[in-house]
Amino acid sequence: MLFRGNISPLSPSLRFNLKTRTPRRNLTVSSRTSLDYPLSISDEALESRGFILRRTAEGLNLEGLNKVFVAVGFPRRDPEKIRVALEHTDSMVWVEQRKSQKAVAFARATGDGVFNAIIWDVVVDPSFQGIGLGKAVVERLIEDLVGRGISNIALYSEPRVLGFYRPLGFVSDPDGIRGMVYSRKQKTK
Ligand SMILES: CC(C)(COP(=O)(O)OP(=O)(O)OC[C@H]1O[C@@H](n2cnc3c(N)ncnc32)[C@H](O)[C@@H]1OP(=O)(O)O)[C@@H](O)C(=O)NCCC(=O)NCCS
Repeated sequence: MLFRGNISPLSPSLRFNLKTRTPRRNLTVSSRTSLDYPLSISDEALESRGFILRRTAEGLNLEGLNKVFVAVGFPRRDPEKIRVALEHTDSMVWVEQRKSQKAVAFARATGDGVFNAIIWDVVVDPSFQGIGLGKAVVERLIEDLVGRGISNIALYSEPRVLGFYRPLGFVSDPDGIRGMVYSRKQKTK
């Protein structure tokens, strides 16, 4: 797919390189083996509302994605580092608004491709929140992962977003398992 035009022209280095692997603060974990609920909205229904589902990084404007990250309060990142991160991403789903050709929702997962995956960067442009796009991208990400036999799917959730993930099948501290994050600050104490 071709790179799509956006408000600001990008240098080639900021466009996603197609030589990627595109197969294909609580830890919450899903350990299902199949998507056990129907998609809340079909691809066709999204299309009829002017949204196109994308499952590879082709055509993804990294500066535009960065703007969405910043708009939801994530720190702005080096687009080159985003490009590398996406090259090492096993699965991604994003939604393009057809009219503007902008990414308005995004989610990705990294992992070992067999047993485990972690979901990162679930974001919806604030102007498009509350209309089901966040749910649509996470559902499809899970569908893709479980479809490939990956049953251990985890993510880090800010407390205010736990209620978004729970209906999607995620639980906190399953069987008493606690998420731990390496903290350099803690280590030096
Ligand atoms: C969290 C986020 C991805 C949700 O996306 P969204 O498109 O606004 O959510 P949806 O419209 O798909 O909502 C799906 C359902 O989750 C609910 N929901 C959405 N945000 C929620 C929240 N913060 N807490 C509880 N429930 C929430 C909706 O009410 C809706 O419920 P319904 O299915 O019963 O109607 C989006 O608000 C966002 O980008 N937030 C900022 C970034 C962020 O915090 N990302 C998560 C990092 S851990």
